Amino acid sequence: MSERKKRIGILTAGGDCPGLNAAIRGVGKTAIVEYGMEVIGFRSGYSGLIHNDYIELHESQLSGILTLGGTILGTSREKPYKLVDNNGQANEKPDSILQNYEQLGLDALICIGGNGTMKTANMLAKQGLNIIGMPKTIDNDVWGTDVTFGFDSAVYIATEAIDRLHTTANSHQRVMIIEVMGHNAGWLALYAGSAGGGDIVLLPEIPYNIHSVVKKVEQRYEDHKPYSIVVVAEGIEHPKKMSAASYIADAISSYTGLETRETVLGYIQRGGSPTPADRILATRYGFFAAECIVNKQFGTMVAVKDNKLVAVPLDEVGGKTRLVCPDNPLIEIARKMGVSFGE
Ligand code: F6P
Repeated sequence: MSERKKRIGILTAGGDCPGLNAAIRGVGKTAIVEYGMEVIGFRSGYSGLIHNDYIELHESQLSGILTLGGTILGTSREKPYKLVDNNGQANEKPDSILQNYEQLGLDALICIGGNGTMKTANMLAKQGLNIIGMPKTIDNDVWGTDVTFGFDSAVYIATEAIDRLHTTANSHQRVMIIEVMGHNAGWLALYAGSAGGGDIVLLPEIPYNIHSVVKKVEQRYEDHKPYSIVVVAEGIEHPKKMSAASYIADAISSYTGLETRETVLGYIQRGGSPTPADRILATRYGFFAAECIVNKQFGTMVAVKDNKLVAVPLDEVGGKTRLVCPDNPLIEIARKMGVSFGE
């Protein structure tokens, strides 16, 4: 008697990023071509799992999506375990998930997302589902891995923006402040700031002093560099009623009298086609996630450590954030080359 085909599910949750389709393709093609599995994709993250909203993924649907931005499955920030006011009614979402997983005859579920997604994935694993997590986010802040896909693409986009700001800053002799995403982590600001040659880089992990920032701008002016590029992470301390970029721009212009302009890069950082590095990383993760299913390494997240693929327990990942260490080698290098971190 022939063995029943294995059936697996995939979902993408949280904020989107470049490389999600490359990851779906990586899992799906490996599962179908190499292991003869059936693959389904849940729509809109955990929401599709709650409401049994899914599509069958055949190999033909996985062709031509490697280079596509966004996610063919859609995404949402649905958190099925979050206690909300249900007018006194119990939260039935976790039960619906268990029921759908059983009824669909799933052997495993791959949850692609960031820290929030991994937290939920861990809870599902604790409920007895066969879960594999896969880390993605432009923020690069998932605990347990050296790198997430989406990050390289966002660094590329932010660096290009900084390059363009350089020429206009120089022409007009202005102080340009560019705000990049990253949530509470400064990875994007550090990498794009370094690649784009920012003069001042402000990270949430290094408390800044506005007087040091001003001093650096004035110093550059005195050194006949009448323009400056200030790269700020969205997560730095600032009044919440305004953007971090506006706050820093206002402070610099009021202390120095110099002309400032701010740019909040926003969702451009999350859109569009992944870089080659992200396509490769997402493909490696996708392949490895399918291998983890075959090897029954459930309750884990696929990760990269020292450029090697490994499976780390979801229990160690859920609920944590990987921040930039103030002694990161890139910070040390930048400091010695005259970059200010506002200390
Ligand atoms: O987590 C990725 C991220 O892009 C953060 O950098 C940013 O703070 C956040 O998502 C924005 O999320 P939303 O899509 O909910 O506006």
